[in-house]
Parts: sequence; structure tokens; C-alpha cells
Amino acid sequence: MPSIEILQADITTLDVDAIVNAANSSLLGGGGVDGAIHRAAGPELLAECRALGGCPTGEARLTGGYRLAARFVIHTVGPVWHGGSHGEDELLAACYRNSLELAARQQLRSIAFPSISTGVYRFPLERACCIALREVRAFLATHPLPERVLFCCFSAADRAVYEQAYTELAKSS
Ligand code: APR
Repeated sequence: MPSIEILQADITTLDVDAIVNAANSSLLGGGGVDGAIHRAAGPELLAECRALGGCPTGEARLTGGYRLAARFVIHTVGPVWHGGSHGEDELLAACYRNSLELAARQQLRSIAFPSISTGVYRFPLERACCIALREVRAFLATHPLPERVLFCCFSAADRAVYEQAYTELAKSS
């Protein structure tokens, strides 16, 4: 039975098949979780990303994990929050769906997501985590892989929001 786990950690430390990077469309690194992943993975990650030639918002790209514990990094580009009437919800949902599709295609068993778009891109956290949880549950209900999806929150406050949203989602379904 596929499982969803919510934890508080630095995503670069997780020993899973793939960690997801909240990247920007250049895929050439940045701050936040993007900066942390590139620092931990080492320069070979940037070299591979350079060869990818960028990634449109909502889409995902697979690279090696290099010095990370994770074998792969799935880079996805979340939407910048502009108030909610510019297709942000659907683009964020697409980030989760496309990342899971890539993981399934690669036959990966475990994947960890950060809270995409809720930092520098200012997407409201509660709204984002409901979209994330809903998309992941829907995907796992119709796919055998991945079988473990981890929501890696960077703070205890974020983790509490995810756990509350997950409880409510489980009640309503
Ligand atoms: N592990 C897990 N989560 C982390 C880590 C980490 N090491 N570092 C930051 N986070 C969390 C943040 O606390 C936030 O909840 O990742 C979430 C996403 O925040 P950002 O990294 O700011 O990503 P995002 O909001 O999607 O903005 C992307 O920021 O870093 C740049 O290059 C990136 O331009 C892109 C933009």
C-alpha cells in the first residue's frame, strides 16, 4: 500500500530514491531549497542541469543526485504567486503530477517533496499543501510506484500545517 509521510528535515539529508528541487526555470540554481540541494550535490549537478537548457513552470526534469544520499533529483519549477487568478493552482498541481510521473517512469520507489513555491515564490502555504496532498493521493490511487512519498517540511510550523491538512483531507474522503 503506497504511503504518504510528513516530516520535518533538511531534504538534502534524506536517503530516498529522489528528492524534488523547487527550482527556477533556468535550472541554474538559486537560494532556498534549490541552493541547499546544489551545495550538497556538488558541481556535477549544475553541469548536468546546464545541459538541460531550462524547464518551463509546472514541468519536471530528472538528473543524478551526485553527492546527495538520494540517487536522483527531480527539478520542478513552481508558479510564482500573483494572487491566485493566473493559473497558479493548476501549475502547482502540475509540478507534483509531473514529478510523480517522472519518478514512476524511472521505477523509483521513494520520493521526497519540499513545499514547492511556498518560500521565495510566496504561494500561500495552506493552499499549496492542500493542492500537493490532493495531487499525490490521486496519483498514488492509480499508480503502483512510487510507493513512498515524503513531504519534507523545513520547519515545525510548516509540518503542523501539512498534518492538519492531511487529517482534514482523510476525513473528507
Ligand atoms: N530542505 C527542505 N525544505 C527546504 C530547505 C531544505 N534544505 N530549504 C528551504 N526549504 C523550504 C522552504 O522553507 C520552503 O518551505 O522549501 C520551501 C520552498 O521555498 P524556496 O526554496 O524559496 O522555493 P520556492 O518558493 O519554490 O521558490 C523558488 O527560489 O531558491 C530559489 O532558485 C529558486 O528561483 C527559485 C525560487
